[in-house]
Amino acid sequence: MSAVYLVLLLLPLISAQTYHWGPCPSPAVQPNFQLEKYLGKWYEIEKLPTSFARGKCIEANYSLRKDGTIRVLNAQIEKDKLSTAEGTAVVRDMRERAKLGVSFSYFTPYSPYWVLTTDYTSLVVVYSCNDIFRLFHVDFAWILSRSRSLPEATVHYAKDLLTKEGIDISRMRPTDQSCTDLF
Ligand SMILES: *[C@@H]1O[C@H](CO)[C@@H](O)[C@H](O)[C@H]1NC(C)=O
Repeated sequence: MSAVYLVLLLLPLISAQTYHWGPCPSPAVQPNFQLEKYLGKWYEIEKLPTSFARGKCIEANYSLRKDGTIRVLNAQIEKDKLSTAEGTAVVRDMRERAKLGVSFSYFTPYSPYWVLTTDYTSLVVVYSCNDIFRLFHVDFAWILSRSRSLPEATVHYAKDLLTKEGIDISRMRPTDQSCTDLF
């Protein structure tokens, strides 16, 4: 009975997100990550599907708060309306600054937000993975850019990098960025 209930609860998540058997991969991250240069606006070019951002024109603005945490303002157009979500990112280990944690509510734990590579001015590749009971993992990956489009060769480079790190990107899809400024 309770197992059936759990499956019913999880079903919408399972269908929207990417599940794999086994533990999370452990990709290399951006060396000497410089948060100050990373701040500002990034546009979503492609991603693995998520249940929480299905709209178009998805963008994120990262800025520093006075308390040293990072304010994350996500925005998207969903059903012709602007919707925003404010979250918090933190550097969890000063020895591994490219491994951030992001949370969008007081009640949810920080999810991994790993910057695999970035040049700060055009491209960033972000990866997030959570182990579940050490049996399987759910992962997310994003290719973000400073503008609403990226050259095909750059997208190819980013996907190659993810694949080489053992990440399955077969469900990765482009984000519709056909829009003008949201704010
Ligand atoms: C990002 O957010 C900061 C802090 O609210 C703001 O000052 C800045 O103008 C925003 N940047 C863009 C490009 O919207």
